[in-house]
Amino acid sequence: MPRSTPLPIVVLISGSGTNLQAIIDQIQGGQLNAEIKAVISNRPGVKGLQRAKAAGIPARVLDHSQYDSRESFDEALEQLIDSYQPELVILAGFMRILTAPLVEHYQCRMLNIHPSLLPDFRGLNTHQRALDAGRELHGVSVHFVTNELDSGPVVLQAVIEVNGDDTADTLAERIHQQEHIIYPMVIGWFADGRLSCNNNQAILDGQLITTPPKWINQQLRMD
Ligand code: GRF
Repeated sequence: MPRSTPLPIVVLISGSGTNLQAIIDQIQGGQLNAEIKAVISNRPGVKGLQRAKAAGIPARVLDHSQYDSRESFDEALEQLIDSYQPELVILAGFMRILTAPLVEHYQCRMLNIHPSLLPDFRGLNTHQRALDAGRELHGVSVHFVTNELDSGPVVLQAVIEVNGDDTADTLAERIHQQEHIIYPMVIGWFADGRLSCNNNQAILDGQLITTPPKWINQQLRMD
């Protein structure tokens, strides 16, 4: 059921923010019924902050290097996020491991995008690891955030073929294009009340997601 007011979201970034830009563009184009209440970066001076300002969105810096522990940073982060009263928190290239209290506070209200076909290649350097493992297919996953890194329930994956001449850079570029399609799509599902999660399982249109839907060759496959 479409909502009458836009879904209030907060986006966390650490860098370039091309996913943030894709979300902004879809909101501005009327394809995504959401409103970005704030963009928060743990690093000052990153391009994603400029993107937020250019779109008239409050751009906040919470510099983790100014905090003496992960716990104290996450407490400040939680307070800052909550001051904007989001219904959904979007991690879009936010390069921090979150503490358990923060993750639990946003249980089923926080999404992440990870550049691999989870559960393969959690953590960093996913493109090179996919190449080293000789994978013919690679991709990117949107998932709810849980306490274990890159392990929460997957909602949607985009899949691409790995070519013989691919490098980590060419894969990253093609994966990025897919990210910009599937992340706004999933946020839209949440905004439209189609997506939720419960007991560490994602639910789409009233069905538990056991095999995540796939975005392949510009088509959504639900089987
Ligand atoms: C993306 O590759 C995403 O999968 C990962 O961080 C990167 C963010 O890119 N979690 P950008 O800052 O949105 O361009």
